[in-house]
Amino acid sequence: MNEKGKATLSYDGKTIDLPVYSGAHGPDVIDIRKLYGQTGMFTYDPGFMSTASCNSKITFIDGDKGELLYRGYPIEQLATKCDFLQVCYLLLYGDLPTAEKRADFVNRVTHHTMVHEQMQFFLRGFRRDAHPMAVMTGLVSALSAFYPDSINLHDAQQRDISAIRLIAKLPTLTAMAYKYTVGQPLIYPQNNLDYTSNFMRMMFAVPAEDYKVNNVLVRALDRIFILHADHEQNASTSTVRLCASSGTNPFAAIAAGVACLWGPAHGGANEAALNMLYDIQKQGGVEKIGEFIAQVKDKNSNVRLMGFGHRVYKNYDPRAKLMRETCHEVLQELGLQDDPLFKLAMALEKIALEDEYFVSRKLYPNVDFYSGIVQKAIGIPVPLFTAIFALARTVGWIAQLNEMIADPEYKIGRPRQLYVGAQRRDVK
Ligand code: CMC
Repeated sequence: MNEKGKATLSYDGKTIDLPVYSGAHGPDVIDIRKLYGQTGMFTYDPGFMSTASCNSKITFIDGDKGELLYRGYPIEQLATKCDFLQVCYLLLYGDLPTAEKRADFVNRVTHHTMVHEQMQFFLRGFRRDAHPMAVMTGLVSALSAFYPDSINLHDAQQRDISAIRLIAKLPTLTAMAYKYTVGQPLIYPQNNLDYTSNFMRMMFAVPAEDYKVNNVLVRALDRIFILHADHEQNASTSTVRLCASSGTNPFAAIAAGVACLWGPAHGGANEAALNMLYDIQKQGGVEKIGEFIAQVKDKNSNVRLMGFGHRVYKNYDPRAKLMRETCHEVLQELGLQDDPLFKLAMALEKIALEDEYFVSRKLYPNVDFYSGIVQKAIGIPVPLFTAIFALARTVGWIAQLNEMIADPEYKIGRPRQLYVGAQRRDVK
Protein backbone atom coordinates (compact mmCIF):
# COMPACT_ATOMS: atom_id res chain seq x y z
CA MET A 1 0.00 0.00 0.00
CA ASN A 2 1.39 3.39 -0.97
CA GLU A 3 0.84 6.25 1.44
CA LYS A 4 -0.56 9.02 -0.71
CA GLY A 5 -1.25 11.71 1.84
CA LYS A 6 -3.19 12.47 4.99
CA ALA A 7 -6.87 13.05 5.67
CA THR A 8 -7.61 15.46 8.51
CA LEU A 9 -10.44 14.83 10.93
CA SER A 10 -11.62 17.57 13.24
CA TYR A 11 -14.12 16.94 15.99
CA ASP A 12 -14.81 18.45 19.37
CA GLY A 13 -11.86 20.83 19.19
CA LYS A 14 -9.38 18.06 18.30
CA THR A 15 -7.71 17.51 14.94
CA ILE A 16 -5.94 14.35 13.86
CA ASP A 17 -4.26 13.25 10.65
CA LEU A 18 -5.05 9.85 9.21
CA PRO A 19 -2.89 8.19 6.51
CA VAL A 20 -4.45 7.77 3.06
CA TYR A 21 -3.31 4.83 0.91
CA SER A 22 -3.83 4.15 -2.77
CA GLY A 23 -4.01 0.70 -4.30
CA ALA A 24 -3.42 -0.51 -7.86
CA HIS A 25 -7.00 0.38 -8.90
CA GLY A 26 -10.10 1.65 -7.19
CA PRO A 27 -10.82 4.20 -4.47
CA ASP A 28 -8.16 5.29 -1.98
CA VAL A 29 -8.63 4.30 1.66
CA ILE A 30 -8.27 6.22 4.91
CA ASP A 31 -6.41 4.18 7.53
CA ILE A 32 -8.47 4.49 10.72
CA ARG A 33 -6.75 1.79 12.74
CA LYS A 34 -5.41 4.30 15.24
CA LEU A 35 -8.61 6.36 15.37
CA TYR A 36 -9.89 4.83 18.60
CA GLY A 37 -6.53 5.23 20.31
CA GLN A 38 -6.29 8.88 19.25
CA THR A 39 -9.91 10.00 19.72
CA GLY A 40 -11.76 7.35 21.76
CA MET A 41 -14.28 7.06 18.89
CA PHE A 42 -15.18 4.20 16.57
CA THR A 43 -16.43 4.51 12.98
CA TYR A 44 -19.96 3.33 12.24
CA ASP A 45 -20.59 1.45 8.99
CA PRO A 46 -23.18 -1.35 9.16
CA GLY A 47 -23.16 -3.35 5.94
CA PHE A 48 -19.59 -2.14 5.22
CA MET A 49 -20.85 0.51 2.78
CA SER A 50 -17.56 2.47 2.96
CA THR A 51 -15.20 0.08 4.70
CA ALA A 52 -12.31 -1.86 3.15
CA SER A 53 -11.83 -4.83 5.47
CA CYS A 54 -8.43 -5.87 4.08
CA ASN A 55 -5.99 -5.30 1.25
CA SER A 56 -6.02 -7.96 -1.43
CA LYS A 57 -4.23 -8.90 -4.66
CA ILE A 58 -6.79 -11.41 -5.90
CA THR A 59 -9.86 -9.84 -7.51
CA PHE A 60 -10.78 -6.34 -8.62
CA ILE A 61 -14.25 -5.09 -9.53
CA ASP A 62 -14.94 -1.71 -11.10
CA GLY A 63 -18.65 -1.51 -10.39
CA ASP A 64 -19.20 1.62 -12.48
CA LYS A 65 -17.50 0.24 -15.58
CA GLY A 66 -18.84 -3.29 -15.04
CA GLU A 67 -15.33 -4.76 -14.98
CA LEU A 68 -14.14 -7.88 -13.17
CA LEU A 69 -10.48 -8.94 -13.02
CA TYR A 70 -9.01 -12.06 -11.42
CA ARG A 71 -5.32 -11.38 -10.66
CA GLY A 72 -5.47 -8.65 -13.32
CA TYR A 73 -7.02 -10.76 -16.09
CA PRO A 74 -10.46 -9.68 -17.43
CA ILE A 75 -13.18 -12.23 -16.74
CA GLU A 76 -14.17 -12.20 -20.45
CA GLN A 77 -10.70 -13.49 -21.44
CA LEU A 78 -10.59 -16.10 -18.69
CA ALA A 79 -14.09 -17.33 -19.54
CA THR A 80 -13.25 -17.76 -23.22
CA LYS A 81 -9.59 -18.84 -23.13
CA CYS A 82 -9.15 -20.88 -19.93
CA ASP A 83 -10.77 -23.76 -18.13
CA PHE A 84 -11.86 -23.77 -14.51
CA LEU A 85 -8.77 -25.54 -13.14
CA GLN A 86 -6.47 -22.99 -14.82
CA VAL A 87 -8.52 -20.26 -13.15
CA CYS A 88 -8.26 -22.11 -9.81
CA TYR A 89 -4.49 -22.18 -10.18
CA LEU A 90 -4.46 -18.47 -11.05
CA LEU A 91 -6.55 -17.53 -8.01
CA LEU A 92 -4.56 -19.72 -5.64
CA TYR A 93 -1.01 -19.04 -6.81
CA GLY A 94 -1.23 -15.63 -8.54
CA ASP A 95 -0.37 -16.51 -12.16
CA LEU A 96 -1.73 -18.69 -14.93
CA PRO A 97 0.11 -22.02 -14.91
CA THR A 98 2.74 -23.09 -17.44
CA ALA A 99 1.86 -26.30 -19.30
CA GLU A 100 3.97 -28.28 -16.82
CA LYS A 101 2.48 -26.66 -13.72
CA ARG A 102 -1.01 -27.05 -15.12
CA ALA A 103 -0.49 -30.78 -15.69
CA ASP A 104 0.85 -31.17 -12.15
CA PHE A 105 -2.07 -29.22 -10.64
CA VAL A 106 -4.68 -31.19 -12.63
CA ASN A 107 -2.98 -34.39 -11.53
CA ARG A 108 -3.08 -33.37 -7.87
CA VAL A 109 -6.72 -32.31 -7.97
CA THR A 110 -7.72 -35.41 -9.95
CA HIS A 111 -6.16 -37.71 -7.36
CA HIS A 112 -8.15 -36.24 -4.50
CA THR A 113 -11.62 -36.57 -6.01
CA MET A 114 -12.72 -39.54 -3.92
CA VAL A 115 -14.08 -38.94 -0.44
CA HIS A 116 -13.68 -41.11 2.62
CA GLU A 117 -16.12 -44.00 2.24
CA GLN A 118 -17.59 -43.34 5.69
CA MET A 119 -18.86 -39.96 4.51
CA GLN A 120 -21.72 -41.90 2.92
CA PHE A 121 -22.92 -42.94 6.38
CA PHE A 122 -22.76 -39.36 7.55
CA LEU A 123 -24.77 -38.36 4.45
CA ARG A 124 -27.41 -40.96 5.22
CA GLY A 125 -28.13 -39.25 8.53
CA PHE A 126 -29.88 -36.45 6.62
CA ARG A 127 -33.55 -36.54 5.74
CA ARG A 128 -34.08 -37.34 2.07
CA ASP A 129 -35.84 -34.01 1.54
CA ALA A 130 -33.12 -31.92 3.23
CA HIS A 131 -32.14 -28.81 1.25
CA PRO A 132 -28.82 -29.52 -0.54
CA MET A 133 -27.26 -26.45 1.11
CA ALA A 134 -28.04 -27.91 4.56
CA VAL A 135 -26.35 -31.12 3.43
CA MET A 136 -23.40 -29.26 1.88
CA THR A 137 -22.79 -27.18 4.99
CA GLY A 138 -22.68 -30.41 7.01
CA LEU A 139 -20.53 -32.38 4.56
CA VAL A 140 -17.94 -29.63 4.08
CA SER A 141 -17.65 -29.11 7.81
CA ALA A 142 -17.35 -32.88 8.31
CA LEU A 143 -14.24 -32.94 6.09
CA SER A 144 -12.31 -31.68 9.12
CA ALA A 145 -13.27 -34.89 10.94
CA PHE A 146 -12.36 -37.11 7.99
CA TYR A 147 -9.08 -35.38 7.06
CA PRO A 148 -7.56 -34.31 10.41
CA ASP A 149 -4.04 -34.39 8.93
CA SER A 150 -4.63 -31.11 7.05
CA ILE A 151 -6.46 -28.93 9.54
CA ASN A 152 -3.65 -26.76 10.87
CA LEU A 153 -4.41 -23.35 9.39
CA HIS A 154 -0.97 -22.04 10.28
CA ASP A 155 0.91 -24.77 8.41
CA ALA A 156 1.28 -23.68 4.74
CA GLN A 157 1.69 -27.25 3.52
CA GLN A 158 -1.46 -28.44 5.32
CA ARG A 159 -3.33 -25.44 3.95
CA ASP A 160 -2.24 -26.39 0.45
CA ILE A 161 -3.35 -30.00 0.91
CA SER A 162 -6.73 -28.92 2.29
CA ALA A 163 -7.10 -26.50 -0.67
CA ILE A 164 -6.54 -29.32 -3.17
CA ARG A 165 -8.86 -31.59 -1.19
CA LEU A 166 -11.63 -29.02 -1.12
CA ILE A 167 -11.41 -28.18 -4.84
CA ALA A 168 -11.26 -31.88 -5.73
CA LYS A 169 -13.97 -33.12 -3.38
CA LEU A 170 -16.63 -30.42 -3.67
CA PRO A 171 -17.95 -31.85 -6.99
CA THR A 172 -18.08 -35.33 -5.43
CA LEU A 173 -19.92 -34.03 -2.34
CA THR A 174 -22.36 -31.96 -4.45
CA ALA A 175 -23.17 -34.98 -6.62
CA MET A 176 -23.55 -37.14 -3.49
CA ALA A 177 -26.01 -34.64 -2.01
CA TYR A 178 -28.02 -34.75 -5.26
CA LYS A 179 -28.00 -38.54 -5.72
CA TYR A 180 -29.08 -39.00 -2.12
CA THR A 181 -32.16 -36.80 -2.53
CA VAL A 182 -33.25 -38.59 -5.72
CA GLY A 183 -32.53 -42.03 -4.26
CA GLN A 184 -30.05 -43.09 -6.95
CA PRO A 185 -26.79 -44.96 -6.31
CA LEU A 186 -23.80 -42.72 -5.72
CA ILE A 187 -21.46 -42.54 -8.72
CA TYR A 188 -17.75 -42.58 -7.92
CA PRO A 189 -15.42 -40.16 -9.70
CA GLN A 190 -13.72 -41.38 -12.86
CA ASN A 191 -10.30 -39.83 -13.09
CA ASN A 192 -9.75 -40.12 -16.82
CA LEU A 193 -12.33 -37.36 -17.22
CA ASP A 194 -11.65 -33.66 -16.83
CA TYR A 195 -12.92 -31.86 -13.72
CA THR A 196 -16.28 -30.68 -15.09
CA SER A 197 -17.05 -33.79 -17.16
CA ASN A 198 -16.36 -35.84 -14.06
CA PHE A 199 -18.84 -33.76 -12.11
CA MET A 200 -21.50 -34.10 -14.85
CA ARG A 201 -21.02 -37.85 -14.83
CA MET A 202 -21.25 -38.10 -11.04
CA MET A 203 -24.47 -36.09 -11.23
CA PHE A 204 -26.23 -37.70 -14.16
CA ALA A 205 -24.84 -41.21 -14.79
CA VAL A 206 -26.60 -44.29 -13.47
CA PRO A 207 -24.89 -47.68 -13.13
CA ALA A 208 -27.38 -49.31 -15.52
CA GLU A 209 -26.36 -47.21 -18.53
CA ASP A 210 -23.32 -45.74 -20.24
CA TYR A 211 -23.02 -41.99 -19.82
CA LYS A 212 -21.87 -39.82 -22.70
CA VAL A 213 -20.55 -36.39 -21.85
CA ASN A 214 -21.99 -33.50 -23.90
CA ASN A 215 -19.10 -31.08 -24.52
CA VAL A 216 -21.32 -28.01 -25.04
CA LEU A 217 -22.95 -28.57 -21.64
CA VAL A 218 -19.60 -29.28 -19.99
CA ARG A 219 -18.19 -26.03 -21.38
CA ALA A 220 -21.27 -24.14 -20.13
CA LEU A 221 -20.94 -25.54 -16.63
CA ASP A 222 -17.20 -24.91 -16.63
CA ARG A 223 -17.98 -21.29 -17.52
CA ILE A 224 -20.46 -21.08 -14.63
CA PHE A 225 -17.64 -22.30 -12.36
CA ILE A 226 -15.21 -19.68 -13.75
CA LEU A 227 -17.70 -16.82 -13.39
CA HIS A 228 -18.44 -17.73 -9.78
CA ALA A 229 -14.88 -18.53 -8.69
CA ASP A 230 -14.21 -15.29 -6.79
CA HIS A 231 -15.78 -11.89 -6.25
CA GLU A 232 -13.56 -10.05 -3.76
CA GLN A 233 -14.93 -9.24 -0.29
CA ASN A 234 -18.58 -10.33 -0.66
CA ALA A 235 -20.59 -11.64 2.29
CA SER A 236 -19.48 -15.28 2.15
CA THR A 237 -15.82 -14.43 1.49
CA SER A 238 -15.81 -11.99 4.39
CA THR A 239 -17.44 -14.74 6.48
CA VAL A 240 -14.65 -17.15 5.55
CA ARG A 241 -11.99 -14.56 6.41
CA LEU A 242 -13.64 -13.68 9.72
CA CYS A 243 -14.17 -17.31 10.63
CA ALA A 244 -10.57 -18.26 9.76
CA SER A 245 -9.22 -15.23 11.61
CA SER A 246 -9.91 -17.08 14.86
CA GLY A 247 -7.47 -19.79 13.74
CA THR A 248 -10.12 -22.42 13.04
CA ASN A 249 -9.38 -25.09 10.43
CA PRO A 250 -9.79 -24.48 6.66
CA PHE A 251 -12.71 -26.92 6.26
CA ALA A 252 -14.67 -25.22 9.07
CA ALA A 253 -14.02 -21.79 7.56
CA ILE A 254 -15.20 -22.91 4.11
CA ALA A 255 -18.31 -24.47 5.69
CA ALA A 256 -19.08 -21.04 7.19
CA GLY A 257 -18.82 -19.59 3.67
CA VAL A 258 -21.23 -22.22 2.35
CA ALA A 259 -23.74 -21.33 5.09
CA CYS A 260 -23.51 -17.62 4.29
CA LEU A 261 -23.82 -18.20 0.56
CA TRP A 262 -27.16 -19.96 1.08
CA GLY A 263 -29.01 -16.65 1.67
CA PRO A 264 -31.29 -15.36 -1.14
CA ALA A 265 -29.56 -11.95 -1.15
CA HIS A 266 -26.29 -13.75 -2.06
CA GLY A 267 -25.79 -17.22 -3.58
CA GLY A 268 -29.41 -18.22 -3.10
CA ALA A 269 -30.43 -15.59 -5.66
CA ASN A 270 -30.04 -17.98 -8.64
CA GLU A 271 -32.63 -20.32 -7.11
CA ALA A 272 -34.84 -17.35 -6.17
CA ALA A 273 -34.52 -15.84 -9.68
CA LEU A 274 -35.65 -19.04 -11.38
CA ASN A 275 -38.53 -19.50 -8.92
CA MET A 276 -39.55 -15.91 -9.64
CA LEU A 277 -39.62 -16.64 -13.39
CA TYR A 278 -41.71 -19.77 -12.74
CA ASP A 279 -44.17 -17.71 -10.67
CA ILE A 280 -44.59 -15.08 -13.38
CA GLN A 281 -44.95 -17.85 -15.94
CA LYS A 282 -47.67 -19.51 -13.87
CA GLN A 283 -49.55 -16.24 -13.52
CA GLY A 284 -49.66 -15.67 -17.29
CA GLY A 285 -46.08 -15.10 -18.51
CA VAL A 286 -44.94 -12.07 -20.50
CA GLU A 287 -48.34 -10.34 -20.17
CA LYS A 288 -47.96 -10.32 -16.40
CA ILE A 289 -44.54 -8.62 -16.35
CA GLY A 290 -46.12 -5.17 -15.90
CA GLU A 291 -48.03 -6.32 -12.81
CA PHE A 292 -44.93 -7.97 -11.39
CA ILE A 293 -42.78 -4.88 -11.93
CA ALA A 294 -45.46 -2.80 -10.18
CA GLN A 295 -45.19 -5.11 -7.15
CA VAL A 296 -41.41 -4.81 -7.18
CA LYS A 297 -41.69 -1.03 -7.13
CA ASP A 298 -44.21 -1.07 -4.29
CA LYS A 299 -42.18 -0.43 -1.12
CA ASN A 300 -44.73 -2.32 0.99
CA SER A 301 -44.64 -5.51 -1.05
CA ASN A 302 -41.18 -6.78 -0.10
CA VAL A 303 -40.89 -8.21 -3.63
CA ARG A 304 -37.55 -7.80 -5.38
CA LEU A 305 -36.59 -8.50 -8.92
CA MET A 306 -34.25 -11.39 -8.17
CA GLY A 307 -31.08 -11.53 -10.27
CA PHE A 308 -31.09 -7.73 -10.47
CA GLY A 309 -29.02 -5.25 -8.51
CA HIS A 310 -25.66 -5.55 -6.83
CA ARG A 311 -23.85 -3.79 -4.00
CA VAL A 312 -20.83 -3.11 -6.21
CA TYR A 313 -22.00 -3.20 -9.85
CA LYS A 314 -23.80 -0.04 -10.85
CA ASN A 315 -23.62 -1.19 -14.45
CA TYR A 316 -24.25 -4.48 -16.28
CA ASP A 317 -22.56 -7.31 -14.36
CA PRO A 318 -19.92 -8.58 -16.87
CA ARG A 319 -20.68 -12.12 -15.70
CA ALA A 320 -24.35 -11.67 -16.70
CA LYS A 321 -23.32 -10.84 -20.29
CA LEU A 322 -21.24 -14.02 -20.53
CA MET A 323 -24.02 -16.03 -18.90
CA ARG A 324 -26.59 -14.74 -21.37
CA GLU A 325 -24.32 -15.85 -24.24
CA THR A 326 -23.94 -19.30 -22.65
CA CYS A 327 -27.69 -19.47 -22.17
CA HIS A 328 -28.18 -19.06 -25.96
CA GLU A 329 -25.59 -21.76 -26.72
CA VAL A 330 -27.04 -24.29 -24.28
CA LEU A 331 -30.65 -23.77 -25.34
CA GLN A 332 -29.62 -24.09 -28.98
CA GLU A 333 -27.66 -27.28 -28.31
CA LEU A 334 -30.67 -28.79 -26.57
CA GLY A 335 -33.19 -27.53 -29.14
CA LEU A 336 -34.82 -25.32 -26.51
CA GLN A 337 -34.48 -21.97 -28.35
CA ASP A 338 -38.14 -21.33 -27.70
CA ASP A 339 -37.86 -22.04 -23.98
CA PRO A 340 -40.61 -19.86 -22.46
CA LEU A 341 -38.58 -19.08 -19.33
CA PHE A 342 -35.67 -17.74 -21.38
CA LYS A 343 -38.05 -15.60 -23.46
CA LEU A 344 -39.69 -14.37 -20.29
CA ALA A 345 -36.29 -13.53 -18.76
CA MET A 346 -35.28 -11.53 -21.86
CA ALA A 347 -38.60 -9.65 -21.89
CA LEU A 348 -38.32 -8.92 -18.16
CA GLU A 349 -34.74 -7.73 -18.55
CA LYS A 350 -35.69 -5.41 -21.43
CA ILE A 351 -38.59 -3.85 -19.54
CA ALA A 352 -36.59 -3.43 -16.32
CA LEU A 353 -33.64 -1.84 -18.16
CA GLU A 354 -35.98 0.82 -19.56
CA ASP A 355 -37.92 1.47 -16.36
CA GLU A 356 -37.11 4.66 -14.45
CA TYR A 357 -37.17 2.81 -11.08
CA PHE A 358 -34.31 0.50 -12.15
CA VAL A 359 -32.46 3.11 -14.23
CA SER A 360 -32.35 5.69 -11.43
CA ARG A 361 -31.12 3.11 -8.92
CA LYS A 362 -28.58 1.67 -11.39
CA LEU A 363 -30.07 -1.80 -11.06
CA TYR A 364 -28.80 -4.14 -13.78
CA PRO A 365 -28.97 -7.91 -14.25
CA ASN A 366 -26.40 -9.81 -12.20
CA VAL A 367 -24.90 -13.23 -12.94
CA ASP A 368 -27.83 -15.03 -11.34
CA PHE A 369 -30.41 -13.70 -13.74
CA TYR A 370 -29.41 -16.19 -16.47
CA SER A 371 -27.41 -18.84 -14.61
CA GLY A 372 -30.57 -20.54 -13.32
CA ILE A 373 -31.93 -21.00 -16.84
CA VAL A 374 -28.63 -22.51 -17.97
CA GLN A 375 -28.43 -24.84 -15.00
CA LYS A 376 -32.02 -25.94 -15.37
CA ALA A 377 -31.46 -26.69 -19.09
CA ILE A 378 -28.39 -28.76 -18.19
CA GLY A 379 -30.61 -30.80 -15.88
CA ILE A 380 -29.51 -29.46 -12.52
CA PRO A 381 -32.48 -29.29 -10.14
CA VAL A 382 -33.31 -25.82 -8.81
CA PRO A 383 -32.48 -26.51 -5.11
CA LEU A 384 -28.97 -27.54 -6.16
CA PHE A 385 -28.11 -24.23 -7.86
CA THR A 386 -26.56 -22.64 -4.80
CA ALA A 387 -24.52 -25.79 -4.12
CA ILE A 388 -23.02 -25.39 -7.63
CA PHE A 389 -22.17 -21.79 -6.73
CA ALA A 390 -20.51 -23.04 -3.52
CA LEU A 391 -18.51 -25.62 -5.48
CA ALA A 392 -17.20 -22.86 -7.76
CA ARG A 393 -16.61 -20.24 -5.05
CA THR A 394 -14.62 -22.64 -2.85
CA VAL A 395 -11.39 -21.78 -4.68
CA GLY A 396 -11.97 -18.05 -4.16
CA TRP A 397 -12.65 -18.57 -0.48
CA ILE A 398 -9.44 -20.59 -0.11
CA ALA A 399 -7.34 -18.04 -2.02
CA GLN A 400 -8.69 -15.24 0.19
CA LEU A 401 -8.14 -17.25 3.36
CA ASN A 402 -4.55 -18.07 2.35
CA GLU A 403 -3.89 -14.42 1.56
CA MET A 404 -5.18 -13.36 4.98
CA ILE A 405 -3.11 -15.92 6.89
CA ALA A 406 0.04 -14.92 4.97
CA ASP A 407 -0.51 -11.22 5.76
CA PRO A 408 1.81 -10.23 8.63
CA GLU A 409 -0.75 -7.61 9.72
CA TYR A 410 -3.60 -10.10 10.05
CA LYS A 411 -5.50 -10.10 13.36
CA ILE A 412 -8.64 -11.78 14.59
CA GLY A 413 -11.60 -9.88 13.13
CA ARG A 414 -13.45 -8.12 15.89
CA PRO A 415 -15.83 -5.30 14.89
CA ARG A 416 -16.96 -2.81 17.51
CA GLN A 417 -20.46 -1.43 18.05
CA LEU A 418 -22.55 1.56 18.99
CA TYR A 419 -24.44 0.33 22.06
CA VAL A 420 -28.00 1.71 22.19
CA GLY A 421 -29.53 -0.69 24.78
CA ALA A 422 -30.58 -0.21 28.40
CA GLN A 423 -28.40 1.73 30.83
CA ARG A 424 -26.88 -0.28 33.65
CA ARG A 425 -29.68 -1.38 35.99
CA ASP A 426 -30.07 -3.75 38.94
CA VAL A 427 -32.10 -6.93 39.28
CA LYS A 428 -34.74 -6.23 41.95
N1 CMC B 1 -35.39 -5.29 -7.01
C1 CMC B 1 -36.01 -4.12 -6.69
N2 CMC B 1 -35.43 -3.10 -6.04
C2 CMC B 1 -34.13 -3.25 -5.72
C3 CMC B 1 -33.42 -4.42 -6.02
C4 CMC B 1 -34.10 -5.46 -6.71
N3 CMC B 1 -33.48 -6.60 -7.03
N4 CMC B 1 -32.16 -4.31 -5.58
C5 CMC B 1 -32.07 -3.10 -5.00
N5 CMC B 1 -33.27 -2.47 -5.09
C6 CMC B 1 -33.58 -1.09 -4.65
C7 CMC B 1 -33.79 -1.02 -3.14
O1 CMC B 1 -35.17 -1.22 -2.81
C8 CMC B 1 -33.30 0.37 -2.83
O2 CMC B 1 -34.29 1.28 -3.22
P1 CMC B 1 -34.53 2.63 -2.36
O3 CMC B 1 -33.27 3.43 -2.54
O4 CMC B 1 -35.73 3.24 -2.98
O5 CMC B 1 -34.75 2.17 -0.95
C9 CMC B 1 -32.12 0.55 -3.79
O6 CMC B 1 -32.43 -0.30 -4.91
C10 CMC B 1 -30.77 0.14 -3.19
O7 CMC B 1 -30.88 -1.19 -2.73
P2 CMC B 1 -30.12 -1.78 -1.46
O8 CMC B 1 -30.88 -2.96 -0.94
O9 CMC B 1 -29.79 -0.67 -0.52
O10 CMC B 1 -28.79 -2.24 -2.16
P3 CMC B 1 -27.75 -3.25 -1.55
O11 CMC B 1 -26.44 -2.90 -2.14
O12 CMC B 1 -27.82 -3.31 -0.07
O13 CMC B 1 -28.26 -4.66 -2.10
C11 CMC B 1 -28.52 -6.66 -3.30
C12 CMC B 1 -27.67 -5.39 -3.09
C13 CMC B 1 -27.79 -7.60 -4.28
C14 CMC B 1 -28.69 -7.42 -1.98
C15 CMC B 1 -29.91 -6.24 -3.89
O14 CMC B 1 -29.74 -5.57 -5.12
C16 CMC B 1 -30.85 -7.43 -4.07
O15 CMC B 1 -31.50 -7.85 -3.11
N6 CMC B 1 -30.90 -8.02 -5.31
C17 CMC B 1 -31.72 -9.19 -5.53
C18 CMC B 1 -30.97 -10.40 -5.05
C19 CMC B 1 -29.87 -10.80 -5.99
O16 CMC B 1 -30.08 -10.88 -7.20
N7 CMC B 1 -28.69 -11.10 -5.40
C20 CMC B 1 -27.56 -11.61 -6.18
C21 CMC B 1 -26.37 -10.73 -6.11
S1 CMC B 1 -25.16 -11.26 -7.34
C22 CMC B 1 -24.66 -12.81 -6.79
C23 CMC B 1 -23.72 -12.72 -5.64
O17 CMC B 1 -22.64 -12.13 -5.81
O18 CMC B 1 -24.05 -13.25 -4.57
